[in-house]
Amino acid sequence: MTNFPTEFLWGAATSSFQIEGATGADGRGESIWDRFCATPGAIHDGTDGQIACDHYHRFEEDIALMASLGLKAYRFSIAWPRIVPDASGAINEAGLDFYEKLVDTLLAHGIAPYATLYHWDLPQWLEDQDGWVNRDIVEAFTHYTRAVVGRLGDKVASYATLNEPFVSADHGYREGEHAPGRTSIQDAFAAAHHLLLAHGTAVPIIRELAPSAQVGVVLNFTPAFPASDDPADLDWTDQTDAWENRWYVEPIVGLGYPEGATHNVVWAQSEVLDGDLETIAAPLDFLGVNYYSRQVCKADGEVPATLPVTDMGWEIYPQGIRELLTRLHGYDTFPSFYITENGCAMPDIDLDGEFVNDQDRVSYFREHLTELNAAITNGVPIRGYFAWSLFDNFEWAHGYAKRFGLVRVNYETLERTPKASALWYRDVIAANAVS
Ligand code: FCB
Repeated sequence: MTNFPTEFLWGAATSSFQIEGATGADGRGESIWDRFCATPGAIHDGTDGQIACDHYHRFEEDIALMASLGLKAYRFSIAWPRIVPDASGAINEAGLDFYEKLVDTLLAHGIAPYATLYHWDLPQWLEDQDGWVNRDIVEAFTHYTRAVVGRLGDKVASYATLNEPFVSADHGYREGEHAPGRTSIQDAFAAAHHLLLAHGTAVPIIRELAPSAQVGVVLNFTPAFPASDDPADLDWTDQTDAWENRWYVEPIVGLGYPEGATHNVVWAQSEVLDGDLETIAAPLDFLGVNYYSRQVCKADGEVPATLPVTDMGWEIYPQGIRELLTRLHGYDTFPSFYITENGCAMPDIDLDGEFVNDQDRVSYFREHLTELNAAITNGVPIRGYFAWSLFDNFEWAHGYAKRFGLVRVNYETLERTPKASALWYRDVIAANAVS
């Protein structure tokens, strides 16, 4: 038995665009993901977010399901296009009403609401003004933050400003696999800086409007290992580590941006104005950590996996969660950590009707939680864990083809069926221990 600390917070996570559907409901504006999904070839299975899990209409049933699993916290995100649908900047009260009902229902079930303000679904009207590349977006994010936190206030236990700004900037602006589908590394550098600036600017506003809520940010990390000790591989590993793992956390802890090249390009930092780095380094209550896998880096190409992989092709490397948390604690800055995402897509082929006997997913969770527990024992202040994801859902460029859920969603009937992993997780929560 591996026991967890008494107050350990067990949760599950989702995000607005991936589960809500109802993209035209109650005055919601267009998001960059609606536009991207309508671009032929952008989503591998040709799907979109118009229905998704229909959580927008089924949130009460979904919260009852969370309660039946014993979840103590639920991490969700707020859809910016529901709150500020168009360029007039007018606040859509119906959008706020939805999230307030969601939060009130969670509280009525004794589930702590953990909100993320930005999980990638930018209003399209902002992208039409150059999106995260345009510094004016910081003001727009501030306006949006005031509206949300002004309404939800301290009912929300914890606010994260951004989810994985690396993915927003890199996949959205450099590599083009995510909305808005742009492919310029210079745009990605600018986007990264404005994401961080929006984060740092929002932190004191959240503190002012929700004085008892915890404030932080959610970053993703994929530990990088060299394929060989060839100097070219070592250099590529350093560049990858800087761009993917250090680019956001280091300015936040006050160290500024990593130096050197990224994808063999050096950034001139012309977007960084006086005072920006101080704003970005606003003290936080927690760092949210998303961890899925590691990567092995080779200067001139891909490296075949040597460990077992998930349905995403991601190597399963459980000790990475312990190594990573130990490294992040080494910055000596964050008072607490939460695992805000960890989980796996699996093929889910062991089906009995709608019931999925996903023992592979159970093993993934068990191994990661055991390593996480070791990090806690070693003194890293990890306060909670959110499984990704509560539901099978819209997995971005993969559409509905990749299933990450503890709960199966039948996309024809929208029926929800807890998988073996959900029942296992329910028992972990009840015992506060992994066996
Ligand atoms: C993370 C995202 C989340 C989900 C998982 C699999 O990068 O934050 O929305 O797509 O990966």
